[in-house]
Amino acid sequence: MTDEFIPLSAPDLRGRERQYLTECIDQNWVSSAGPFVTQLETRMAALSGRARGVAAVNGTAALHLTLIALGVGRDKLVVLPDWTFIATANAVMHAGATPYFVDVEERSWTMDAALLAKVLKQEAGKVAAVIVVHTLGHAADMDVLSRVCDAAEVPLIEDAAGAVGSTYKGKPLGGLSRAGCFSFNGNKLVTGGGGGMIVTDDQALADTAKHRSTQAREGTDYVHSAVGWNYRMTNLNAAVAVAQLERLDEMIATKREIAARYDASLGGTDLVPMPRLAWAGHNYWLYSVLAPSRDAAADLVAALRTKSVEARVFWRALSSQAPYKDAPRRLNGIAEKLSGRTVSLPSSSNLTATQQTRVIAAIKDWAARSRAQERAGAR
Ligand SMILES: Cc1ncc(COP(=O)(O)O)c(C=O)c1O
Repeated sequence: MTDEFIPLSAPDLRGRERQYLTECIDQNWVSSAGPFVTQLETRMAALSGRARGVAAVNGTAALHLTLIALGVGRDKLVVLPDWTFIATANAVMHAGATPYFVDVEERSWTMDAALLAKVLKQEAGKVAAVIVVHTLGHAADMDVLSRVCDAAEVPLIEDAAGAVGSTYKGKPLGGLSRAGCFSFNGNKLVTGGGGGMIVTDDQALADTAKHRSTQAREGTDYVHSAVGWNYRMTNLNAAVAVAQLERLDEMIATKREIAARYDASLGGTDLVPMPRLAWAGHNYWLYSVLAPSRDAAADLVAALRTKSVEARVFWRALSSQAPYKDAPRRLNGIAEKLSGRTVSLPSSSNLTATQQTRVIAAIKDWAARSRAQERAGAR
């Protein structure tokens, strides 16, 4: 008999998702407008302490719209961390600008503010925006990054794709910059099946983003004032996301328990848990560990797979990837060091304690086997 499969990060749809989807069908609101879209915008703005929420079809579109609304375009640079999901850089390219990769710091796995300051000085006048990423739900050092951006008079944007419910010094992420962008992709803590959101206090930014997300259409007539996109979120996706948000605190509490159990169990292995700095209130979107080498990371993932446990090697530095190999960069070696060595472990908020015990046992078996192989190799 094969073991039951344990996924990395599966949607946890135990709230009112089904009820709200039925409401959408009963009310015939299934497309890219509707009461749940408005409700999600209001709720996300409130959660982030911001005046406005603008829904989008996904997190990438939310980032793209934000850049467009800030007037970012050709011949401009946008600085972002070298260690992020490729969507962050792709959004910059979609806006017609050039991504400039700055490395992350070892202690938080988020953008290195000292390197950023050097880049803003060196490229003065050319940088149209900085995007900081809250890696795996862990906050970047927003006070310092904001100071650096303010001094250079460059707008700061948060890519908070996986950071819903996380905080920095007690304040909600996404609400600590000119605009914050979230993703409701299927693997996120709060999912809509798909979807994205911009939160901001900047009314003009919100209006422009909304307008461009609806083909820049003026009213209901076929009059368009600019080039736009169909970047709207559907009421169906928003219905699921609203139901998910209602359980946000409960889901984060469960994630914290999962993280605490991994923390307590991984001592004695060579796996180093992800950073947890004092300023970060963590949603533990994906609990991840740093393996001693790329081979060890791949071996761990393969070993878990044989036991029907899904783990995944996390991001690779973008500056070394095909579309960005010629992009400007300022690096310190950390993104490269983390690339291919960071492994995300099963972290679904519906992961049971029994399932997690199985995951931990599989990791310990792998660790014991690796040690035995090392000893044999040393002889
Ligand atoms: C850091 C980061 N930025 C942007 C995105 C893009 O979000 P979406 O997949 O909703 O377009 C993701 C999604 O995984 C992400 O992790």
